[in-house]
Amino acid sequence: MKQYFTNRYLAQLVNCMTRGIFITGTGTEIGKTVIAGGLATSLKQAGTNVGVMKPISTGNTADAQFLKHAAQVDDELSVINPIFLRNPLAPSVAARIEDTDIDLRSVETAFAVLGKRYDFVIVEGVGGIAVPIRDDFLVVQLIQQLQLPILIVAKTGLGTLNHTLLTVAFAQQFNIQIAGIVLNGLCKETAGLAEATNPVEIEKLTGVPVIGIVPYQKQLDTPYPDLTFLSEFMNQHIAWRKLGIL
Ligand SMILES: Nc1ncnc2c1ncn2[C@@H]1O[C@H](COP(=O)(O)OP(=O)(O)OP(=O)(O)O)[C@@H](O)[C@H]1O
Ligand SMILES: [Mg+2]
Repeated sequence: MKQYFTNRYLAQLVNCMTRGIFITGTGTEIGKTVIAGGLATSLKQAGTNVGVMKPISTGNTADAQFLKHAAQVDDELSVINPIFLRNPLAPSVAARIEDTDIDLRSVETAFAVLGKRYDFVIVEGVGGIAVPIRDDFLVVQLIQQLQLPILIVAKTGLGTLNHTLLTVAFAQQFNIQIAGIVLNGLCKETAGLAEATNPVEIEKLTGVPVIGIVPYQKQLDTPYPDLTFLSEFMNQHIAWRKLGIL
């Protein structure tokens, strides 16, 4: 009996531990894949048994393929990316046009498979946090279902406070743990007062740590950046330890 309770306690403890992280953003084309790939490469190099997932992709499977490459895993693409829609639109809209239903159980199943194979799974969202997957189900609800903390990727500049605060407030409405914010794509040549004041203002207004400010870097502006360069660059500009969950 005692053994039973001990095992159950341990199981609960494992369940409480972070199984991964969900990378979301304040919009599309914001740098989620690049940051997710950087984290995967860095964790891999640190010896973590890390898996990746892009549960839903629309238009193409490039993100899923890049994440697979970055984490150097050999999982089937159908597990990394269980839902694919041809049209590059919000999933609910693409599904309607393609006359198909999005089966969210396939995401749960694939996530469970990866959860058994890996100690930590990096999941990239689709677009921003309020993107509809079905008319009655948004990305934020997928995050809730997977029970993962989030990392928010935002651009930096005028408008960033608004986008970031909206994303944080929306996540908080759904009781989602926000592990950190990364400001991506800083162009040093054109940066002005907004870029200079964004990090402090965001931390003050949200209470969420800005764990990195990643400059625009030409070598990253390609579908398959060199992984060693990507990992070194991200490690240089993102304080992953500030996530507090790794
Ligand atoms: N810091 C950076 N420096 C240079 N290029 C970058 C940087 N971050 C992202 N990019 C480039 O910007 C484009 C968009 O980035 P990325 O694909 O990571 O965005 P995303 O948020 O994942 O987009 P999506 O919503 O389509 O999934 C890519 O071509 C990527 O290579
Ligand atoms: Mg992406």
